[in-house]
Amino acid sequence: MRSLENLIVLITGAGKGLGRSHALLMAERGADVIVQDENLAAVEDTAALVAKLGRRAEPISSDVADAQATQNAIAGAEAKLGRIDVLVNNAGISGQHMEISDIEPARLARMLAVHVGGAFHCVQAVVPGMKRRRSGAIVNTSSAWGMTGWPVSSHYCAAKAALLGATKAWAKEFAPYNIRVNAIAPGWIDTGKFPAGKVEQWTRGIPLGRFGRPIEISALVAFLASPESAFITGQVVSPNGGETIVGI
Ligand SMILES: NC(=O)c1ccc[n+]([C@@H]2O[C@H](COP(=O)([O-])OP(=O)(O)OC[C@H]3O[C@@H](n4cnc5c(N)ncnc54)[C@H](O)[C@@H]3O)[C@@H](O)[C@H]2O)c1
Repeated sequence: MRSLENLIVLITGAGKGLGRSHALLMAERGADVIVQDENLAAVEDTAALVAKLGRRAEPISSDVADAQATQNAIAGAEAKLGRIDVLVNNAGISGQHMEISDIEPARLARMLAVHVGGAFHCVQAVVPGMKRRRSGAIVNTSSAWGMTGWPVSSHYCAAKAALLGATKAWAKEFAPYNIRVNAIAPGWIDTGKFPAGKVEQWTRGIPLGRFGRPIEISALVAFLASPESAFITGQVVSPNGGETIVGI
């Protein structure tokens, strides 16, 4: 399937996990990829894997919370590759399971700066070119917890919920320019970082009886980035194995 043929895609947080998985699947589907991460060595490895698939890959490094550094890095890559057709805001901090009393101001500020600020900075960098071409797709990475909440991660849940609001606002703001903006809100996805004992416990809350696979999330991102989803904007799609179904 070559649904992303010749598109140029920017993916943040592409040094490992879901971001790397997105980069590889999108390259397989014909895209050239700008892979961004705060970890330069990791994103260079991702770029080498993309290149092996026969697509152009441009690694760039910055902290997405740093507007200036991130926007400079994106501008450099855009000048090199010519344009950016798709932005996938994926960089994020996870694993901070803590109660409200442990979330001191600096920790809250950092969570919001990376997830919400990072997405704003990247959107600001790519939208002028998308507007000029009257074409573009943006995919924001929220979380099922941005919709349902989770008892020991309220700063993460708040950041992920904020992204849902921004997604809908940007979808309306950019629709006149044929720029689509959607969000994914994954449930538990096995990127190899969760403690085995907990996985069994958390799996009990998933009707399909397993964690998701990164490729299953990447396939959704690739669809939302492709012309196949040309009439979809301002939507939230939650691949979660049924975890958010409300039943009796
Ligand atoms: N894995 C899941 O179960 C799950 C579920 C729902 C949502 N998500 C979201 O999906 C995204 C990816 O998750 P993952 O599981 O692959 O995480 P991960 O921790 O495996 O990878 C995150 C990547 O983002 C990079 N990163 C972190 N902070 C950054 C910053 N400030 N600037 C630039 N790069 C930064 C890291 O270096 C890393 O390479 C995150 O936004 C996460 O919140 C994941």
